[in-house]
Order: sequence, then C-alpha cells, then structure tokens
Amino acid sequence: MNEVTSLLQGNKRIKSAKYVSKFETIFACPICKSSMKVMDFKSLICSYHHTFDFAKQGYMNLTTHSVNTKYSKGLFEARRKLMNEGAFYKPVSHAIAKIISEHLVKTKENISILDTGCGEGSHLSNICDMVRSDFFKSVVGVGIDLSKEGIMIASKNYSNKIWAVADLANTPFKNKQFDVILNILSPSNYTEFNRLLKRDGLIIKIVPQSGYLKELREHLFHKPEKQNYSNSETVERFNESFQVVESSRLSYTMNLNQSSIEWLVQMTPLTWSTTEERVKSFFNKDSAQITVDLDLLIGKNTI
Ligand SMILES: C[S@@+](CC[C@H](N)C(=O)[O-])C[C@H]1O[C@@H](n2cnc3c(N)ncnc32)[C@H](O)[C@@H]1O
Ligand SMILES: [Zn+2]
Repeated sequence: MNEVTSLLQGNKRIKSAKYVSKFETIFACPICKSSMKVMDFKSLICSYHHTFDFAKQGYMNLTTHSVNTKYSKGLFEARRKLMNEGAFYKPVSHAIAKIISEHLVKTKENISILDTGCGEGSHLSNICDMVRSDFFKSVVGVGIDLSKEGIMIASKNYSNKIWAVADLANTPFKNKQFDVILNILSPSNYTEFNRLLKRDGLIIKIVPQSGYLKELREHLFHKPEKQNYSNSETVERFNESFQVVESSRLSYTMNLNQSSIEWLVQMTPLTWSTTEERVKSFFNKDSAQITVDLDLLIGKNTI
C-alpha cells in the first residue's frame, strides 16, 4: 500500500468515526448493553471498556463472534451493479421511499432508518437519497448485516451512513431508536424489531411473491416445487407480530442485457442449488425478460 492510499484510508476511518459520534447515543454494547462513545475517532467504547475499532473503510464490527456466511464479495459486487447500473430494483426503492414519506413525513423532521440485513447497502443509500431529495427531510441511515463482505462494500461506496457488521437478532442498539426498520429479502427477528422501533415507527418488510425471478427459476430448476413458492407463512407471522398498516404487491418485468444477466446470475443464491450447466446456459443469453414480484408488508410496532 502506498502512502497516499494509506492516508486516504486513515481519513475515511476518521470521517466515519466523526459521523458516528453525532449519533453515538443510539448504541448499546453488544457484550454488556451499556452506553457507548466514540473515542479518539478510532473506536466505539462502552462504559465497561469493551472496545470496537473502526475499520479503515469506516465500518464497525459489532459482533461478538466471527461468522462465515455464504454471501461472497463477488455476489455483493454483482448485486450493487445490477441495482445501480442495471436499475433492476429502482421501482422497489421508489416504492419504499414513497411509503416512508406517506406515513412519516408529515409528523417528523428527522427520520432514522435501520436496514436489517442490508447486504451491500444500495437499497438503504438509494432510499435515504430519495426521502431526502423528494421530501426534504433530514435522514440518518444505519445498515447492519452479518456479512463483513457486504458491509465492507457498503462503507467503501456510501459515506454519511452508519455501517456495522451485526446480527439482526441481537442488535447493538438501545430500545426505541428508529423511525423505520427495513427488512428486504432478509431473515427477521420480530421481537428485536419491536424493541428497536420508536412508538408509531414503521417496519417495511419485502418478501418474494410467486412470480419473483420466475424466468430464472424455471431455467435453473426442473422441479415445479422449486420453480414456485408461497410466502403465506411469512406473511402470517408478520401479521401476528405487528399492527398491519398496509400491504401491497409490486410486480414488473425488465428486459435485461447481457451485462445485467451476468450480474443477476452472480448475485442470486438461487444458483447455489442447481447444476453448473444450467447456470452457464442462462449466463450465456444475450437478453432476457425477468420478473420482479414482491410483497411489501408495512406494520407498526405493538409495544
Ligand atoms: C438475500 S440478501 C438481501 C440483502 C439486501 N437486503 C438486498 O436486498 O440486496 C440476505 C442478507 O441477509 C443477511 N443476513 C442473514 N442473516 C443475518 C443476521 N442474522 N443478521 C444480519 N444479517 C443477516 C445476509 O448476510 C445477506 O446479506
Ligand atoms: Zn460493554
């Protein structure tokens, strides 16, 4: 590493620590749950001196044990490209920003958003930008994911956000800190989400509907049970855990070019359970129509 790169990385760490210090009161130590403070623009330290350093990319690792996930750096890079260059999930970010504005903008000046299982951070970044520019609100975005690879990419690409490697089932935050919790195509922990949401806070959960990526699914799997699936159990559990405000379905089909097809194949866990041959033959297509079909579940906290 040359001197310039090392200086820039040092700057990034300090910049990020300065930003986090403005919001340090939201944190609770992942080990003992006590309050935390940013110290010397270098670490987040709790009252009992449990210490978590900022990484050179600006994120924090707030897990108490190391975790290996199947999600690789390549998967997250492909997901980022498909989202930003391919605009594949743009209607999803738009729909979420609109929901936030409809439910919160009238009553709130500042909005805090926690994305649980944020992956490489593009959804959170796009949504914060949209809420800020379309509705003139001040927005704080916090993204957590168990995958260090995802958080590393998020913090490298998106500044002025708080990025942490953390478990969504045991988050490093105090009670009632967030106006909005996002949970996009990720696992959930509803007890924890209810604990974190402010009174009248909103949870927005995105789950696949039956047509989600159906063209890719049909190509990769020849068994009908893998081609189709139902989300009814997930929806039922959501409805039991929150006061449901609204739910809607978002469906659209996009024509993907060759680059976007490659990113799609690289970014989806669907390819983990099929043969290399089927993945390759989809990969080699020049273009493809691909359906996005999602349920947007919107709830308020119950405690
Ligand atoms: C299909 S990806 C979705 C990522 C992102 N929300 C998106 O839509 O691009 C699921 C994500 O959930 C994360 N994840 C799984 N279990 C988790 C946990 N217990 N805590 C935090 N993140 C978790 C994975 O690391 C992965 O990034
Ligand atoms: Zn502690």
